[in-house]
Amino acid sequence: MELINNWTDENRANYGKKVMAVQHSLEATGLFSDDALATMLDRHPRHLVDVLALPADGRFQEYQDQHLTVDFGDASGKTLVDAAQSGDIWINVREVMNTHPEYIEVLDQLHDELEDKAGKNKGRRNCRGGVLLSSPTARTPYHSDPTITHLWHIRGHKRVWVYPLTQEFLSDEAFEAIVIGEMNEDVPYSPSLDESAGVYDLYGGEMVSWPHRSPHRVENQTYCVSMVMEFSTPQSAFINGGMMTNGLLRRKFGMNPSWENAGQFERVLKSAAGRVLGKLGLHRSYKRKDMVLFKLDENAPGFIQAVTPYERAF
Ligand SMILES: [Fe+2]
Repeated sequence: MELINNWTDENRANYGKKVMAVQHSLEATGLFSDDALATMLDRHPRHLVDVLALPADGRFQEYQDQHLTVDFGDASGKTLVDAAQSGDIWINVREVMNTHPEYIEVLDQLHDELEDKAGKNKGRRNCRGGVLLSSPTARTPYHSDPTITHLWHIRGHKRVWVYPLTQEFLSDEAFEAIVIGEMNEDVPYSPSLDESAGVYDLYGGEMVSWPHRSPHRVENQTYCVSMVMEFSTPQSAFINGGMMTNGLLRRKFGMNPSWENAGQFERVLKSAAGRVLGKLGLHRSYKRKDMVLFKLDENAPGFIQAVTPYERAF
């Protein structure tokens, strides 16, 4: 059974260059039903599960726009699915698609079909895929991803905004911060930017992809299940290496570099330097700590209960 459907010549031409949507039949694999997801969660390493609180109705205003890590203790897979369905949370189950054999098979097939249909991505690496379970109230703020990402939406209704890739929408400084890891991939946003965005209403069975680094944001309308595919290509790694160097020059030496205005020679040097710097871990002093601010509680409104903050150790 093919998993990607209705791929057109236009899709082939646009893939990786423009925002585009195609249809898929991931739901038919049976791996993304609530029961299958609960079973998977019971087997999945806990350090690869991120539960974030998304307080609705103005609760916990003091934590607005922050990354709100939830300690989910030894909650069962079923409890986590229930919490996503009727609470105020967002669960990112990282690396599902490259951890369990039955999911690996699906991810491999998707990559094979994409490579075949798009006629590119042969040099891709670090192929990973996570599953997102998110509450009806969930919103993913305006952000950009350092990897190439494709959103495979499977169940529920969500709205996605994808923005142009210019300095106005994503400054070099903002993307450097993402590559360095000092911010949680959120980028300065104002509602007026929406006028220039492409807006997609997804009901399950659509894959949306966009050019590497394009800012985007998501608002759920119902409980949703999606898969996020991530990978890098030599080209995306090249840019990220250069941005790492520029980011450190800006932060450690007060310089004001620009990737857009750099010549090819400068880019090659900076990209190579950035990869070395990344391996040396020089950027790590800028990384933020992951603080737990909530715990999962079936009896609390939205399934979330505030705690005295402590650093994540799970
Ligand atoms: Fe993203």
